[in-house]
Amino acid sequence: MKKVVVLTGAGISAESGIKTFRDSGGLWEEYRIEEVATPQAWGRDPYLVQEFYNQRRKQLLEAEPNAGHIALARLEEKYNVRIITQNVDDLHERGGSTRVLHLHGELKKARSTSDPDLIYEIDGWELKMGDTCEKGSQLRPHIVWFGEAVPNIIYAARLASEADIFIVVGTSMAVYPAAGLIDYVPQQVPKYLIDPNAANISWIRNLTVIAEKAGIGVPKLVEKLLAEA
Ligand code: APR
Repeated sequence: MKKVVVLTGAGISAESGIKTFRDSGGLWEEYRIEEVATPQAWGRDPYLVQEFYNQRRKQLLEAEPNAGHIALARLEEKYNVRIITQNVDDLHERGGSTRVLHLHGELKKARSTSDPDLIYEIDGWELKMGDTCEKGSQLRPHIVWFGEAVPNIIYAARLASEADIFIVVGTSMAVYPAAGLIDYVPQQVPKYLIDPNAANISWIRNLTVIAEKAGIGVPKLVEKLLAEA
């Protein structure tokens, strides 16, 4: 089976009702990154940070995977599909994809502030100050904040370098190291970028831009790839 590696961003979940970050009306217009998504913010006002992610989690519990997520799961019928997502939602998993690598963490999980290996599923939407790990340390959202290392990037870069087909969906390609993953994909490998307002990466070889929403563009591309397999 050919290996299809898919890099997704907030755009693939937009039609599920989850706001993107940098579009007009996006989350970073409503909140300041420095106030809710950095280790310094956590040090200064952990209540505000918890509240921000609690709201995101609450919204996620009401969201459903859309046609884009579901189509990517169908691709597994004929391809070895590896999804690398910048999203912290679980809509790929709920859409049926079986191998999903989260670069920026997972909203439904909490992590110990004293031992990064202690990771827990959050029951419901709320993580509170006073909620602790088994060693008694405060739990924080299992999210990679700005300024923190992205532990899964090494694994993601290896996946990108092994791709036979590379697909990017719904990301502004503004945040590194995720945006640099496409540079690990060999030149001759066909690449597709699905985004109604696609970032300009025209220097990338063998790139086809599909300027459509994920809910339309992904199923179309998946049909084509399934027919070709
Ligand atoms: N279908 C496909 N793409 C869409 C759709 C849609 N329905 N709606 C919007 N988009 C595209 C936008 O055109 C834009 O290119 O999704 C992209 C969203 O970009 P960002 O908001 O910057 O999201 P993302 O690239 O995922 O951000 C990367 O930044 O703040 C951090 O950690 C956060 O993982 C996130 C990272």
